[in-house]
Amino acid sequence: MNPQNHVSRRMFLAILGSASVAAGCSREESDAARAAQKPASGADTAGRKPKTLSEIVVGFSQTGAESSWRIAHSKSIQEEAEKRHVQLLFADGQNVHNNQVNAVNGFITKGVDIIVIAPQESVGWKPTLKEAKRAGIPVVLTSRGVDAEEDLYETVMVADFVWEGRRAGEWLAKQTNGNARIIELVGTPAADVAVMRKTGFAEAIAKHPDMKIIASQSGDFTRTKGKAVMETLLPAHKGEINAVYAHNDDMALGAIQAIQAAGLKPGQDILVISIDAVKPAFEAMMEGKLNATVECNPMHGPLLFDTIDKIVRGEKVPKRTIVPGQIFEREQAATAIGSRPY
Ligand code: AHR
Repeated sequence: MNPQNHVSRRMFLAILGSASVAAGCSREESDAARAAQKPASGADTAGRKPKTLSEIVVGFSQTGAESSWRIAHSKSIQEEAEKRHVQLLFADGQNVHNNQVNAVNGFITKGVDIIVIAPQESVGWKPTLKEAKRAGIPVVLTSRGVDAEEDLYETVMVADFVWEGRRAGEWLAKQTNGNARIIELVGTPAADVAVMRKTGFAEAIAKHPDMKIIASQSGDFTRTKGKAVMETLLPAHKGEINAVYAHNDDMALGAIQAIQAAGLKPGQDILVISIDAVKPAFEAMMEGKLNATVECNPMHGPLLFDTIDKIVRGEKVPKRTIVPGQIFEREQAATAIGSRPY
């Protein structure tokens, strides 16, 4: 966004705003005038120059700390903020959507320069994003997307979640010669990532008539719930199951505990594949308990602050950045674990 354009737009809106007050303005107009007080691109209040990273305040609403992936994601962003001398206000949503909405509303009231959201749920964001837009605060999404018009946020950085699910399904099809009875451990159902990982996997196994999902249940991306769900599903489908597909490593690690407690061998009696490629998954692969993991890279910090830097300087950024991943099988675990950054 060109700061010059901002200045003239702001002046125009300011005039419009005061004229509207005199005439009894509409909500939209007064909001526009209010937004005009705060430039969206990071130009200073006089509109003379774009800000630099060390001059801005970033409000970051994080989902929570549900998984090893999430902890690595927070760490990457916090460390990068420190490295680049950015003042970061970190709000842990504790995996409750309304906590995140309240945190973001608080950032808007405070008048931060940029808002970063890693949304727990994809829906229910429109009013808050509209408020941020009215206030002239750019929003950046990381780790998951939202169900809202694209002009309500600057950019989203995510992995290709459908590809991840599809890759897991293809791997399982190959390993089982297209013959599997599967338990699927789903992530947080209201998150786009869970929907897409489910879709991709379903697409891949649809090509194999003898691959069937016997049960599909949410473990909310946590180890505890992954274990609890598996403890219920295993006895209910005794002798029937030969594979587990978990939407993340933490749920797979919980499922592995339940499989062992049931006297079965995870990785042998029941194949286990999941997504994320966190270090504990590599350890489980080295122990032969997890068969494969599809990488979803959480190290968003450097990319996030490069992007924010561009936004505050008024440069254009792509609407969507896909963070690439790859699959790791247990044969690669011992060699690869040393270089895993998370
Ligand atoms: O949004 C990314 C997903 O959220 C990760 O795969 C999962 O572990 C996390 O909780």
